[in-house]
Order: sequence, then structure tokens, then C-alpha cells
Amino acid sequence: MIRLEAITNFGMEAVLKREAIQLGMQNVTVQDGLVTMSGEYPDIARLNLWLRTAERVHLILSTFEAKSFEELFQGVSKIPWDEIMPATANFITEAKSQKSKLFSLSDIQRISEKAIVNKMSKAYGQTWFEKNGARFRIGIRIKNDIATIYLDTSGAGLHDRGYRQRSVKAPLTETIASGLVQLSYWNSDRVLADPFCGSGTIAIEAAMIGRNIAPGLNRKFDFEYWPMEKEIGTKEIRQEAYGLILWDKELEIIASDIDPKAIESARHNIEHLGLEDDIRLFVKDVAQIDYADEYGVLITNPPYGIRIEEESQVKLLNQQLGKLARDLPTWSYYIITSQENFEKEFGKKANRKRKLYNGRIKVDYYQYYGPKPRYTNNKKK
Ligand SMILES: C[S@@+](CC[C@H](N)C(=O)[O-])C[C@H]1O[C@@H](n2cnc3c(N)ncnc32)[C@H](O)[C@@H]1O
Repeated sequence: MIRLEAITNFGMEAVLKREAIQLGMQNVTVQDGLVTMSGEYPDIARLNLWLRTAERVHLILSTFEAKSFEELFQGVSKIPWDEIMPATANFITEAKSQKSKLFSLSDIQRISEKAIVNKMSKAYGQTWFEKNGARFRIGIRIKNDIATIYLDTSGAGLHDRGYRQRSVKAPLTETIASGLVQLSYWNSDRVLADPFCGSGTIAIEAAMIGRNIAPGLNRKFDFEYWPMEKEIGTKEIRQEAYGLILWDKELEIIASDIDPKAIESARHNIEHLGLEDDIRLFVKDVAQIDYADEYGVLITNPPYGIRIEEESQVKLLNQQLGKLARDLPTWSYYIITSQENFEKEFGKKANRKRKLYNGRIKVDYYQYYGPKPRYTNNKKK
């Protein structure tokens, strides 16, 4: 068994925990922004390929008490670095400290690096390391005097699925967009709409869920260049993921935006993934929207005001969303916004409001539940 942890945006821990359990992980526990679990080596590939709301996956190498630099040095020295990293490893250390006696990040980093180099020197018989091989990002996190030493297996953040070829102003990260879809009652037999789609992130993440496409299929991870890759077997897990794609699934996802440039970038991203048959994309002002379906699920991220539009414009947009909701009462509505008075402008109190973070901006996810669908084909009679 190995110990793993996945980091996520504040507010998304419950979704990430559910994802980890669905992937067969054991002993899954949750802290702020962090989900810890146990698994086997192949799970490193499985988690990186499949987790939709995780930002990174760490392999935990050791956990020990470190109240002094000596304890830190000894603890880091006990890790068999030479079995983990080749002599060419381009290793980088990153320190974090919270509520602990050791708090100087530069000292924590320096002492840890010294312990690693000592160990590597003894094993490889050299004192100078060129670091021109595979990248190993080593994390040293000290919290309440307990040090956790881990390897970042992901490399680039997992929100980077490789499909965002073009962006717009203020896009949602892919991990949050996926979390919003997973927090809703949408399932792939229902219509999903985003009338402020921007670069199409919510629609694309929903389509990937609907078709069971692993979000990491189009990218590489740091662990793929490590010696331990032999025990992970990424090739088979990738092949297995291709085999699990639901090619014949029919999806009905509608994405629109007032800005033709946003639609153009969404189209580019959608075509990059080959999802053009799943997402209907068009230019439209939200005021003109009328969906010809019942029991749909609208998930959207309207302009916030602080970033793009002016307050009064944002208010008008929220009022227009509220009118849409009154005109289509069988739909469910899910809106992520930082507007404090959103409910007032929308004209209805949400069934549930969930606090989230979009980057550093505190936002709320307002959830309005419509009635349960009565037909499966969603079409109005
Ligand atoms: C916060 S951005 C959405 C970003 C999107 N979630 C993404 O990930 O790229 C808000 C979007 O609302 C669009 N918008 C502004 N006013 C609109 C209106 N009246 N009707 C439809 N879309 C509008 C903007 O063009 C912008 O793309």
C-alpha cells in the first residue's frame, strides 16, 4: 500500500472524496483543500488520469515529528532517495509551514536538500548533481510540528487538461467547472445549458463526464518519466481509459454567449476534443434565450462585475436569469457568482448556497432545484 493525497480548491473536498472512493481508493479522509487516501502504485496513474476536481496528486514518502532542524534532517535522510530518483534527477524542493516551531521556509528547504544530497552522494558516489534528467518536485509540509514529505506526481496542475487552446477573460478553471457539474443534479440523460459559456469550460467538462472521458488523457504527468513508472504501468491504464469512453452516448449540451469571440474560442476548444456533436454552440444574448426542453439543468458563471462588467449591467443580467427561471419552471438553476445580493436580483432564495473559491476570489454557488424529470427524452410535448 502507498499513501497518496490530492489537493483541490476550498469547497470541493466532498466532490474529490467521492471521486477518490469511486476510483477504489481506501482510507479516504478529508482536510481543508486536501484529500488523503491509500492505494497501490498503479493508482498514481489512475488518479492523475481520472480525478476531475484535483489540482495535484502527491505520493507521500514519509510523515514524522519535526520540532528541530536535526529532527527534520534525520527524517528526510531516512527516505531511500536513491531508490526513488536516478543520479540525473532534476529535483526541486518546496517548503510549507503552518503552526509549527520550524517556520523559516528557506531553512526548511536548505536542510531538507542537504539531507537529500547527502543520501544521493553516498549512493551514487558523486557530490555534484547536474540535475539534467526528469523533474522531481519534492514537497516538505510542516503542520503542527508534523512534517509530511511528498513527491508531486502531476507536474503541471491537473486543471491543465490540454484542451484549452483559446481562452477568454475570467475563465473558470476546469477543475472548478467539473466540480460545479458534479455538485448539480445533472446526469447525462438531461439537457445541460450554459448561457454565459465564455470559452465553454462548463459545457466541455460536462461532456467529458457524460462520455466518461478521463480528463488527463491528452496530457503527460511528471511520474511518467520516473523509474517507478515500471510499477505504475501508465500505458495499460491509459488504454483502459480509452476503452471506457462511451462513444455512442448522445448528449444534449447547449452553450451560448453574447460575444462571438468567446464562442469562437469555445468552438476551438470543443473541436480540439472532438466534442462538436455533443455541444450546441451559438451567439445569443441571455435576454433572448428560450430553451425548447423541459427538466433541463442550467449551470453558469455570469459576469461578476468586479472583473468584467459594471455593477448595473451585472444586476440586469441576474434579473434576466431570474426571468428565464420563471419562464422555465421545470428547470434547475446553478449559478456561481461573487455577487453578494445575487438572490435578490434573481428574485428567489436558493435551495442551497455553497461557499467556494475561484482562484483567490470567494464565490457562492447558488442552487435552485427544479422538479424531478418526468420524461427521459426531455422534450416538451
Ligand atoms: C465569467 S465569463 C464566463 C467564463 C466561462 N465560464 C469560461 O470558463 O470561459 C462571463 C461571460 O458572460 C458573457 N456575457 C456577458 N453579457 C452577456 C449577455 N447579455 N448574454 C450572454 N452572455 C453574456 C461574457 O461574454 C463572458 O464570456
